[in-house]
Amino acid sequence: MRRILVTSALPYANGSVHLGHLLEHIQTDIWVRFQRMRGHECIYVCADDTHGTATMLLAEQEGVGEEALIDRLHAEHLADFERFGISYNNYYSTHSDENQYFSNLIYTRLRDRGFVYTKDVEQLYDPERKMFLADRNVRGDCPRCGASNQPGDNCDSCGATYDARELKNPVSAISNATPILRNSDHYFVDLPKFTDFLREYIHNGSQQPEVANKLTEWIDGGLRGWDISRDAPYFGFPIPDADDKYFYVWMDAPIGYLASFKNWCTKNDVDFDEFWRADSTCEVHHFIGKDIINFHCLFWPSVLHHSDFRTPTKVHVHGMLTMNGEQMSKSRGTFVLASTYLDYFDPDYLRYYLAARLAPNSADLDLGSEDFVSRVNSDLVGKLVNIASRSEGFLAKHFDNTLASELAEPELWQEFVDEEERIAAWYEEGDTRRVVRRVMELADKCNQYLANKAPWQLIKDENRRDEVQGICSMGINLYRILIAYLKPIVPSLTQRSEEFLNAGDLTWENATQPLLSHRLNKFGRLLNRIELKTFNAMIEAGAQNTAVEDDSTSESESPHIEIDDFLNRASRGG
Ligand code: MSP
Ligand code: ZN
Repeated sequence: MRRILVTSALPYANGSVHLGHLLEHIQTDIWVRFQRMRGHECIYVCADDTHGTATMLLAEQEGVGEEALIDRLHAEHLADFERFGISYNNYYSTHSDENQYFSNLIYTRLRDRGFVYTKDVEQLYDPERKMFLADRNVRGDCPRCGASNQPGDNCDSCGATYDARELKNPVSAISNATPILRNSDHYFVDLPKFTDFLREYIHNGSQQPEVANKLTEWIDGGLRGWDISRDAPYFGFPIPDADDKYFYVWMDAPIGYLASFKNWCTKNDVDFDEFWRADSTCEVHHFIGKDIINFHCLFWPSVLHHSDFRTPTKVHVHGMLTMNGEQMSKSRGTFVLASTYLDYFDPDYLRYYLAARLAPNSADLDLGSEDFVSRVNSDLVGKLVNIASRSEGFLAKHFDNTLASELAEPELWQEFVDEEERIAAWYEEGDTRRVVRRVMELADKCNQYLANKAPWQLIKDENRRDEVQGICSMGINLYRILIAYLKPIVPSLTQRSEEFLNAGDLTWENATQPLLSHRLNKFGRLLNRIELKTFNAMIEAGAQNTAVEDDSTSESESPHIEIDDFLNRASRGG
């Protein structure tokens, strides 16, 4: 039995769960459910990422304390994810005692080993609000093309990247005051000192090839110190030996993985160190989007390694979800919240659709209206569920819902059983696109078999009724093995199928044993077809409720950066 710890990136506690987050949590959850189904110990933890200026400003805007705000969002986030069947062992918060403990521990170890230095940094400062301004909190004219009202890091109009201090006519987006330049000491982690370590680490099998290439490019370009401090006022953990300075949210965010797991270990009497000591033989897998590989594949392993923790076994990186070919964006109305989706569709449809598109690489992935509707209707309902419904009818009506005592086509059955290893290997790699494709090919084969045998003809012939029982029992057994292969992807459809199959929980083991002389339960509806107009109504509703939210400050602490921007940003500390 493998011992595996799995994480999804921690969603910011300043906005709602949307379909982009769900891509990641569904991808992770499928992998986790697969591992558990194979009998491995697989602990899945996540948390809300609570700290930073954005949380502070949002709380202020809503007239509540930060803690009240993050508690409310924590409850909302967890409820949304649970409705999509995401099977965390623990969904915690970075604003926790455990996280403060590990943040301090890691920081002091790094400091005591000479990996932290301080440096004077000049930044824009809001004299009215008495705070330094992060890039997204200043607006001004682009220093290159002159476009007005541009943020402090790059121009939406001409694409130039620059330092916030270069903006012409800068204005604080918080108070509208004119910012002034001001200096303060910042704490830096000495990333260049980890260069040799990183060169080795990124080639140890922990990274996808295209990610390793990107990381190599960055390392070759030269790493720079990593700014991990922010001046007050800031919502975060105070740096132990500093005066009125806080850990930058990205310092304590990944440490939140440790904290969430530690919290679970305490409640479940599991030894934390077994998983996290430097020579641990357990596995740690992170699932993240490609916009945050800098933090997870350079900074995080370096920090772990140099503070006596093990490094991640593997970082699984996915691309960005787009909607009908467009970036998910509030202003374009392509920003669908988890809760909006649930007003229209069953979670399994999205899980199935995303699984059918996901491969082990960081290519972007499009959710297209027509593609979504057609995959659900023609594959999931038309091909797969159809096998069960057409077979079950005859068994219920003529055979007391009882399966035949032997397999009518042992060879066909064996063909389905023989796919088991290949499908398991695809799951392991994260190639659910191949899993789904193969299962659908098998479903075609099964439908073909049923069509050739035409039980609806045979049933009219008194002398051949036994054959009908044999054929339909084949249909049910083949459906059962196919649904077992898809169990990690469509948990609610599987559960409804398990109830009707009346033979307990499907496991990877028992799925390859056919059900014989077995009585089925009454058949309920497994899954409905969907309509394009419902999908359009969902998009419409998404556009409406995000229009209201648009002027809030619920933007993320680190806006989704292009990979190529990283070095630029890393030098300024985001
Ligand atoms: N809080 C940080 C992560 C800290 S992990 C120690 C963060 N939060 S986020 O809410 O902005 O994003 C969380 C995850 O969702 C990231 O992995 C990000 O890539 C993913 N996604 C956010 N929008 C997405 C899409 N449109 N498409 C796919 N994934 C997206 O970053
Ligand atoms: Zn410009």
